[in-house]
Amino acid sequence: MIDRDKGDAPRMPSVLDEFRGRVARREATVGVVGLGYVGLPIAGAMHDAGFEVIGFDVDAKKIEQLRRGEAYLRHAGEDLFRVLAGSGRFRPTTDPSLLSKADAILLCVPTPLGPHKEPDLSFVERSTAMAAGTLRRGQLIVLESTSYPGTTREVCLPIIEQIGRSRGLHVGKDWFLAFSPEREDPGRTSHTTRTTPRLVGGIDQASGEAAEELYRAAIDHVVAVSSAEVAEAAKLLENIYRAVNIALVNELKPVLASMGIDIWEVIASAATKPYGFAPFYPGPGLGGHCIPIDPFYLTWKAREFGHATRFIELAGEINASMPGRVVAATAEALNDMGKPLHGADVLVLGLAYKKNVDDVRETPAAEIIRELLGRHARVSYHDPHVAEFPMMRKYHFPLRSESLTPERLEQSDVVVIVTDHDGVDYDLVGSHAKLIVDTRNVMAKTPGAKAKVVKA
Ligand SMILES: NC(=O)c1ccc[n+]([C@@H]2O[C@H](COP(=O)([O-])OP(=O)(O)OC[C@H]3O[C@@H](n4cnc5c(N)ncnc54)[C@H](O)[C@@H]3O)[C@@H](O)[C@H]2O)c1
Repeated sequence: MIDRDKGDAPRMPSVLDEFRGRVARREATVGVVGLGYVGLPIAGAMHDAGFEVIGFDVDAKKIEQLRRGEAYLRHAGEDLFRVLAGSGRFRPTTDPSLLSKADAILLCVPTPLGPHKEPDLSFVERSTAMAAGTLRRGQLIVLESTSYPGTTREVCLPIIEQIGRSRGLHVGKDWFLAFSPEREDPGRTSHTTRTTPRLVGGIDQASGEAAEELYRAAIDHVVAVSSAEVAEAAKLLENIYRAVNIALVNELKPVLASMGIDIWEVIASAATKPYGFAPFYPGPGLGGHCIPIDPFYLTWKAREFGHATRFIELAGEINASMPGRVVAATAEALNDMGKPLHGADVLVLGLAYKKNVDDVRETPAAEIIRELLGRHARVSYHDPHVAEFPMMRKYHFPLRSESLTPERLEQSDVVVIVTDHDGVDYDLVGSHAKLIVDTRNVMAKTPGAKAKVVKA
């Protein structure tokens, strides 16, 4: 109750109040910059929440496919593409000026490593500058790309503030800036973007609150943390935790094997402990956009503060040595059968970096193929999700996925299982191959295999 006689004046709604109102009434427009593995699902979630969504990407082919409802990320599901293409509330575009309509802009662009394992923030800088060009009162900008703690404040803020000041706009008062890491796990069916808890950290109190308000509309469980830096560091901790634990089991694999102990059985046994242990599995090496790359963002930043990140470096070293170990195990297995690797017919099973997806980014299969070819093996591959070996930054081989037939398997000297896709007939592989090098323990589920199986 306002008592004017007591001198109370009605409080004018703040810019934050107005932002909240637009979100609550679903009048806010959300712009998503970068419509890849991370940007597309959040664009879908914001659209499902009832917002008008502008999807911007520099890749004109993706935009065309979105307009046609053509799926370019298979694991995202064809429904999402169909729904977005048929919606009057989703606008895919290559025209950055359309983003000036957006009340919130979510930056979901790549954060790769440079040639010396240094962060390459050029995509973040370019997209931030573009978002800054559209800056107006009441706008929220959120960085979703994974990066080192301090990126939002030290890299994004100065770029946007330069424009903001010239327009008389102050962060935390007139516009808002936050970090919210995506936890996308391509191929996982147990969680969706909506049901995966979301961290949100602002560069100030009001920015955190604005971001929290927006994400709460689209995500079931939003966890507001005290700063953008906490959210940035938490995302890196999640990925470093995986990289280090995968390295641990990768290191233990040959140790236990030389003792005649099967590491897979050991992990399954340890995993019966109901607390204090989370199972991680060995494999042919790391892949995907996150785990092989993100930990080194922290390594780089730590140097600025005079710290070494020995766990991260060691994990990187062990995980990066795995493709070479797989090739060495293949050569040894062939040798035991009286065959040299030189001239051997090697069929690589699985190109994607993990099961049931078509994602080949940083896949260890590429390095395995490179090393096999370097040792004069004749290499071909089969992957039900990857029809052709794609053009990659470091690798390109003119290979197409071969059909998995009894004849093709019989012709091969060795089958190297790199990815344990569910769609592969392992009974067929086990019945017709002569020798199998299994990096995923998938043949353990095919006990009747006639082929000799070597775990690597
Ligand atoms: N892939 C994952 O599973 C995953 C999970 C969590 C976090 N991340 C992080 O999310 C970020 C994005 O990764 P991603 O996997 O979605 O990458 P992606 O390559 O699948 O998608 C990035 C998209 O950004 C576009 N793009 C590049 N520069 C642009 C620009 N200046 N303006 C507009 N669009 C631009 C590209 O064309 C591409 O479509 C990275 O920081 C990554 O580490 C990825």
